[in-house]
Parts: sequence; C-alpha cells; structure tokens
Amino acid sequence: MKLSILLFLVSSFHLAFSQRYNALFNFGDSLSDTGNVVIAGLPYGMTYFGHHTGRCSDGRLIIDFIAEGIGLPHLPPNTAKNASFNQGANFAFIAAPALPFDFYHQRGLSKGLWVNASVHQQVDRFEKLLPSICGSPQDCKDFVSKSLMVVGEFGGNDYNTGIFGGWPITKVSSFVPHVTQAIAEGVERLIGLGAVNLIVPGVLPVGCFPLYLTLYDGKDPTDFGPRTRCLRRFNTLSWYHNTLLRRQLDRLQKKHPAVSIRYADFYAQYFDFVIDPLKYGFKDGALRTCCGAPGQGKYNFNLHAKCDQNGSSVCPDISTHVSWDGIHMTETAHRIIAQGWLNGPYVDPPILSSSSNN
Ligand SMILES: *[C@@H]1O[C@H](CO)[C@@H](O)[C@H](O)[C@H]1NC(C)=O
Ligand SMILES: *[C@@H]1O[C@H](CO)[C@@H](O)[C@H](O)[C@H]1NC(C)=O
Ligand SMILES: *[C@@H]1O[C@H](CO)[C@@H](O)[C@H](O)[C@H]1NC(C)=O
Repeated sequence: MKLSILLFLVSSFHLAFSQRYNALFNFGDSLSDTGNVVIAGLPYGMTYFGHHTGRCSDGRLIIDFIAEGIGLPHLPPNTAKNASFNQGANFAFIAAPALPFDFYHQRGLSKGLWVNASVHQQVDRFEKLLPSICGSPQDCKDFVSKSLMVVGEFGGNDYNTGIFGGWPITKVSSFVPHVTQAIAEGVERLIGLGAVNLIVPGVLPVGCFPLYLTLYDGKDPTDFGPRTRCLRRFNTLSWYHNTLLRRQLDRLQKKHPAVSIRYADFYAQYFDFVIDPLKYGFKDGALRTCCGAPGQGKYNFNLHAKCDQNGSSVCPDISTHVSWDGIHMTETAHRIIAQGWLNGPYVDPPILSSSSNN
C-alpha cells in the first residue's frame, strides 16, 4: 500500500516535470557540441552511439542527459540540414571561445582560432532560427519562456587561446572580466528574447585535466594542490572566472527578478571526482585519461597519440575513468554531473524542482 502510493507520487512527479519545458536550447563549446563540428572518428561515440556524432566523449554529454531528464529528445546541432528544431537546438561549437575573434586578433592571439562561434554569434544564430520555429516575435517570446536555456560552459577556449599562445597565466587572467561580461550579455539577450529559465555553468578545474598536467608538469611540488595533485595556477584561473561569473549572474538576477538564472557548479562536482574518485566508482582516478596512451606517463596522455590518432588505444573499462581524452569526460562522468544539475546539489534549486519560477 505504502509502496504503491510512493510509486504513484514518484511517477506523477516525474510526469509533471518531464512536461514542464517545451524545448531545450544550448550554447557552448566542445563540452556540449552535439554535432556542429565533426572532426574526429571512432572511438569517439563508441559507448552509446556506435559511431562518431561530433560529441567529444565515448557517449552522451551532460546536455544529452539533461534532455533525457526533462523528457525531450537529444538536441540536433543548429547547422543540421534536415532536423526539426521544434523541441530545441544546440548552438555549441567545438573550440568556441566566449569572446569574438577580434578580441584575440588585437592581442596577436588569433592564430589558433578556427571557429567564429562566440557567445554573441551563437545567440545571433538562435535569434535568426526562432521565427522558423515559433513565428512572430510575440509568439516566440511565449515559446522561449517555456524553454530551458543552458548557456555554457564558455571560457575554457578563451583561456586556452592565451595559454597556448604562450602568455603567462597572470596575463591570461586579464581576460576573465571580458569573458564573464560576454556570457552575461548573452544571458541578457536571451532574457530579452523571452527566456525565463536559464542555467549557466561555470568552468572546470582545468588544472586537473591530463592535457595540462602533461604539458605543464613541473618539478616544483608547490605547483600542485596537496590533496588533488592538480596544477594550482590553472585551477585558480578557473576559480576566478567562476567568481566573476557568479557576480555577473547575481547582478542579472536582481535586475530581472521575474526570471530564474541558475549557476551550475561544474567545478565543485569535478573537484569532488578528483578528491574522492572511488565514491563514484572511478577506480582509475580522475587524472588518468582513458582514450589515448594507457600506461604511459602519470596521466596516460601523449600529445602524439591522442584519442583516435595513430598509436592511441582505449582503456579496458571506460566507466572507471573521469577523463575520456585528456580534456573531455567520459559518458559516466557526464551522467553523474547531469544528475547533480537535475536533482541537485550542483544546480540550486535543481532543474527538476518546483521551487523555481513558472
Ligand atoms: C530528411 O528528412 C526526410 C523526411 O523526414 C527523410 O525522409 C530523409 O531521410 C532525411 N534525410 C536525411 C539525410 O536525414
Ligand atoms: C572569423 O572572423 C574573422 C573576422 O571577424 C575572420 O578574419 C576569420 O577568418 C574568421 N574565422 C573563421 C574560421 O571563419
Ligand atoms: C597511421 O598509421 C598508418 C599505418 O602505420 C599510416 O599509413 C598512416 O599514414 C598513419 N597516419 C597518420 C596520420 O600518421
């Protein structure tokens, strides 16, 4: 008796929220691109799709699990030729920085940039697509107000552009106010288009990525966090970004009290993977790549045998790793992170909760 009531409550709860959003729209970079840029091949995609879809993982991304969690289909990339966007679209682009090309060009750093898909450009594309989905501006405002918008993560590629351009981290930090401002402007433009439910993820502790750990492995033990063994100066940069981003979001929330702008704490969850990997079944820890160079060096990472390149291989058990290719995560890590956004505590109030607006 009791159990059946409980099951009834659980299923009606699920139903209520799976019908809450009419569509999902995503903006971002390789952490959420579902096919705007398809450069690599298998083993990307091997776990879930059986072929490479453009997703930078062995399987589904966080945004795929968010879509599943709210009862919507996986998002088609906005450049898909033959897709229906009635339930959403994904504007994320592999390698997209938050800031426009000119920002880096003026600083002599545009050499490594190969996509034009800044926050503003992605919002431009959204704005252009809208009439084909919902018609008039007023009808579109109604439609967008019933959609869930995920804006980010953005920033990782902005900082990479500086770091890989040879700039010291202290100088790269000067991008942070510009990057977080651009994200806030994107969020505000979406609000102007009718958005009411926005999730804005911060950046990850990139000093824990096997790529950086391999490239910038130093002899000085004070470079590394005592508990994490991650590169502190990179994590400090991420932390600084997230602090300024939250400040921007708090400002916007006050300015637009009728909308819900929720920060997604990407950093804290990943940090917990690193501190306590066994809690999540990550028997191989968080600092060793699965696809790449298993058994090589401390991090299974070799720039000359990157995932899907000659000489690379896939670890025997993908689900015991956080890192898929040295930068991007495994499907297992994505699933856990999405759970923390859907049900808390890393989005507050969580996406599947009644206490937000609407
Ligand atoms: C495009 O859509 C049509 C109608 O839904 C379908 O028959 C066709 O197979 C699709 N083409 C591609 C390339 O997906
Ligand atoms: C991006 O835009 C700039 C001009 O704003 C242009 O010079 C550059 O070639 C573009 N890059 C790509 C990959 O289209
Ligand atoms: C990969 O290895 C094959 C066989 O050894 C070789 O023919 C091919 O050129 C290599 N490709 C690259 C990109 O190095």
